[in-house]
Amino acid sequence: MSVVTSCKRVVTTRHLLRMKSAGEKISMLTAYDFTMAKILDKAGIDIILVGDSAANVIAGYTTTVPMTLDNMIYHGRSVVRGVSNAMVVVDMPFGSYQGNSIEALTSAIRIMKETEADAVKLEGGREVADTIERLVNAGIPVMGHMGLTPQSINVLGTYAVRAKEEAEATKILEDALLLEEKGCFGIVLEKVPAELAERVAKAVKIPVIGIGAGGGVDGQVLVSYDMLGIIDEFSPRFLRRYANLHSVFTTAFEDYIKDVKSGDFPNESEQY
Ligand code: KIV
Repeated sequence: MSVVTSCKRVVTTRHLLRMKSAGEKISMLTAYDFTMAKILDKAGIDIILVGDSAANVIAGYTTTVPMTLDNMIYHGRSVVRGVSNAMVVVDMPFGSYQGNSIEALTSAIRIMKETEADAVKLEGGREVADTIERLVNAGIPVMGHMGLTPQSINVLGTYAVRAKEEAEATKILEDALLLEEKGCFGIVLEKVPAELAERVAKAVKIPVIGIGAGGGVDGQVLVSYDMLGIIDEFSPRFLRRYANLHSVFTTAFEDYIKDVKSGDFPNESEQY
């Protein structure tokens, strides 16, 4: 019988803590399928998030609310098969953890067993503190997500910047400390003022990963489809586009269609 002495993948919760204390920034991007995950992992990303943003960029829904646990498990499993270095975090979808902490544990256990991911992420502050504690006590690493929490869009009514008012900023700061106390290994802070995000990152020992939260945090996350420019209708101020794949894809598709119609494809060397 062989003895397993190392973790599945190289980047672990301990690794991320060490990165924060060494001042090394953490890179995180989303993936939803095997091929993209493999490319990302080879490029050296630290964390791959199987985001419920799959609801928007893969399934075409206008919010993340319709995403199901089965959908997330399918995407999580596909991503994990392509990754050997990065930490893989799977989003718990809306409705899979808000009921009570036992339901949340059942959902998180399904994610961990059926995808073999390294951790789960869920949205909320003090409202989900007991749930986080239960999951961590069961051996499941949990990443928090505060600020703009897209699963609550029907209550928030807007995707605008959060915590511009002192009361909400104070709640986020207090809740970040609570999430750390309950055992979260990291927190995503979405669309909050940079000054608040930096205060939160300084107040907790766990890494704070920002999206639209400025440069004073411990790492950055973006939706891969946005930063690759596959989706060209979404241009929030915080998004930096590293490619314009929408136009690359369009040109390639148009060229292919032209070649098929003209009979240019396939040629002599492209057949048996
Ligand atoms: O689902 C997602 O892609 C996310 C990121 C925006 C952080 O939660």
